[in-house]
Amino acid sequence: MTDHLLVRTDVAERVATVTLHRPEKLNALNRQVLDALDAAFLALESRDDVAVVIVTGAGDRAFVAGADIGALVEMSPLSGKEVSAHGQAVFRRIERFRCPVIAAVNGFALGGGCELALACHIRIASASARFGLPEVGLGIIPGYGGTVRLARIVGFGRALELTLTGAQVKAAEAERIGLVTHVTEPEALMEKARELAATLASKGPLALSMAMEAIYHAADVPTEEALRHEATLFGLLAASDDMREGMTAFLEKRKPDFRGE
Ligand code: COA
Repeated sequence: MTDHLLVRTDVAERVATVTLHRPEKLNALNRQVLDALDAAFLALESRDDVAVVIVTGAGDRAFVAGADIGALVEMSPLSGKEVSAHGQAVFRRIERFRCPVIAAVNGFALGGGCELALACHIRIASASARFGLPEVGLGIIPGYGGTVRLARIVGFGRALELTLTGAQVKAAEAERIGLVTHVTEPEALMEKARELAATLASKGPLALSMAMEAIYHAADVPTEEALRHEATLFGLLAASDDMREGMTAFLEKRKPDFRGE
């Protein structure tokens, strides 16, 4: 286990679990927590024994209760812009990560915590989870990508209402609107996350990475360009050992042994 003090990384069976660890403040994101989170993902980037990452929060109350309001209250216009850009960059590294990242939301995911979950590729939640972007109630707006990503995941209308009201969404409602894809009892959350991670870890790592690359790229460009990019990535995979292994294993009726090459 690596302990970056405020963020802990644990690797087992090709799955890294990254735990934000500031439970006494409901894992609120101050500069140190964000830097430790960034360092954790930077360290995982080059670990080829890691095929999937799970992000969760320490304690049984919160995933992350938001950016640290005690620190935000001091900001000036210039430092405010930097605070936002810094959080955006940390979450963008997660969104652009080479392998799937699952948010296992174990309680409050408010403000920056909701935005962290939105930057992950898959979100699952315990029945006790609560999502929301309460920023307008503090006189600010979501600044870690929430105004961009929420609408892409739950649609424009719902994103506008959630952002403008700052309302909290319970886990069942989050599942209904597509903000999360599974809800479990609190004690079953990590088991479900690991089960999902094991499924992902059994797939071709290059294929997972390129599927994510194609899907995210398509969100930013016109359809023709997105389709061209998809075809290029599809063709690129034909050069991989993983493709030959995946198809040969199917024909030989055995499980593939992917090497990510
Ligand atoms: N920033 C800084 N500290 C936070 C925090 C945040 N976003 N969220 C919680 N904390 C701290 C509280 O100040 C408290 O610290 P203290 O014990 O030193 O006073 C501790 O975490 C526990 O929180 P508390 O408010 O006592 O728990 P609660 O059960 O009464 O309420 C919440 C839980 C999540 C509803 C409430 O903490 C809350 O509204 N937090 C802020 C959420 C938010 O607006 N986030 C967006 C920020 S941009």
